[in-house]
Amino acid sequence: MIEYWWRPLILLAALAFFSSVVASLAGARAGWVVFCLGLLAVIVFHQRQLHRLLTWLGEQQSDAQQDKHGGKHRPLPTTHGHWGDVFYLVQRNYKKNMTLSQHAVEERQEMFQVAGALPEGVVILDPDRRIVWFNRSAQRHFGLSPERDYGQYFYYLLREKRFLEWLARGDAQETLSMSSLASSDRTLSLQLAPLPNGRRMLLSHDITELIRLDEMRRDFIANVSHELRTPITVIVGFLEAFADMEDPDPSQFKAQIGLMREQSDRMRDLIDDLLVLARLEADPDLSDDAIDIALLGQKMLEDARLLSRGQHLITLDLDAEGVLRGSHQEIYSACMNLVSNAERYTPVGGEIILSWDVPPGSGLRFSVRDTGEGIEAQHLPRLTERFYRVDKGRSRGNGGTGLGLAIVKRVLLRHQAHLQIESVVGKGSRFSALFSSERFTPARPESAALTGAV
Ligand SMILES: Nc1ncnc2c1ncn2[C@@H]1O[C@H](COP(=O)(O)OP(=O)(O)O)[C@@H](O)[C@H]1O
Ligand SMILES: [Mg+2]
Repeated sequence: MIEYWWRPLILLAALAFFSSVVASLAGARAGWVVFCLGLLAVIVFHQRQLHRLLTWLGEQQSDAQQDKHGGKHRPLPTTHGHWGDVFYLVQRNYKKNMTLSQHAVEERQEMFQVAGALPEGVVILDPDRRIVWFNRSAQRHFGLSPERDYGQYFYYLLREKRFLEWLARGDAQETLSMSSLASSDRTLSLQLAPLPNGRRMLLSHDITELIRLDEMRRDFIANVSHELRTPITVIVGFLEAFADMEDPDPSQFKAQIGLMREQSDRMRDLIDDLLVLARLEADPDLSDDAIDIALLGQKMLEDARLLSRGQHLITLDLDAEGVLRGSHQEIYSACMNLVSNAERYTPVGGEIILSWDVPPGSGLRFSVRDTGEGIEAQHLPRLTERFYRVDKGRSRGNGGTGLGLAIVKRVLLRHQAHLQIESVVGKGSRFSALFSSERFTPARPESAALTGAV
């Protein structure tokens, strides 16, 4: 494409030769006139090409500023000779730069999209702590608005002394916990990261859930310690009393053994329940047994009667039959927890009805109804919390650990089922486990007749 550099010289030599021919024919003056006109034509030609190039460059610049033509550029008119080479090279470099800057713009946009979607809040601050940019999470955390807050000094929004001092220190290693500006019940952890040119990135992380879990863990440990401490204190008290006796009386000792045993049983029950809960939470595997609900109901009825020792009137209503899929052992233990609660909180002579049925438009239901003391409505949502009891002394007095319904809830959750509690104070309660129809296969009519005889 690049032409030989000596071509213009040939042109000039040709002009000089032509002028000298004219001079020899028509006189020196005519020769000079022709030579000058030729030179003038050459200068005008170059001037015109230069003008075209400069105009084109000017147009490109204003197009780029206004972002016209969707990133495409206008073509430079073609021409010949050295100017053709110059036009070609300028145009080629221009295209290359355009493509590179297009990529850079796209990458920048992509980065902002990624930062915009981060769950952490991101606020970019200039060296004077003015807001340059923020993402959606930061809008939520600090109640920022893109229309109002760009360019705003960040410390105007948050004037808390602790925060201002932390911001002034600008230590990237130091995190700060504070409540969210947008909703005071949420807690944020803030961190500053340095950026080039004196800018800073303020990161905010919502740690409300972490704090809640930590509180739950602390409460749980405090509760367990307290529950274990009470029986141990009783046992240690007896033992110390006996140790202090100069002449221990075996008959007195015997009388206290029953009480000590009761307290030991209580500790064992508590530890057993804790182990069950721990296993349910740690073990992701669920066995897939085919549970004949009629047989399970029958077994629970027998066990409930044994447990009650004739103190309650216990019956079984079998309004549904078929196979429930899940862990036999876990479902038995969850249902028996409901049964034992009914016995524990129903006075002697009360009635307890176990039932399996399929309520209209839903899956399988196992219910335990009692004619016990009932529960006030405000307690119902909290009954499945660990160690939550309506009456602590009462529950402990009759062997409750406060973990039974927490275990029931866990087991049902593992079976995609849920617990429903209905209760009327003074009349009684109904605790129901509701399984989805995907886990239950109803029996065929002939097998229903067979199990009905059980
Ligand atoms: N059938 C029921 N009738 C009345 N109250 C009940 C019944 N079942 C559970 N409760 C209440 O729910 C609380 C939590 O039950 P649970 O988790 O099984 O613990 P607990 O070991 O105390 O029985 C009990 O302390 C009791 O106050
Ligand atoms: Mg219980």
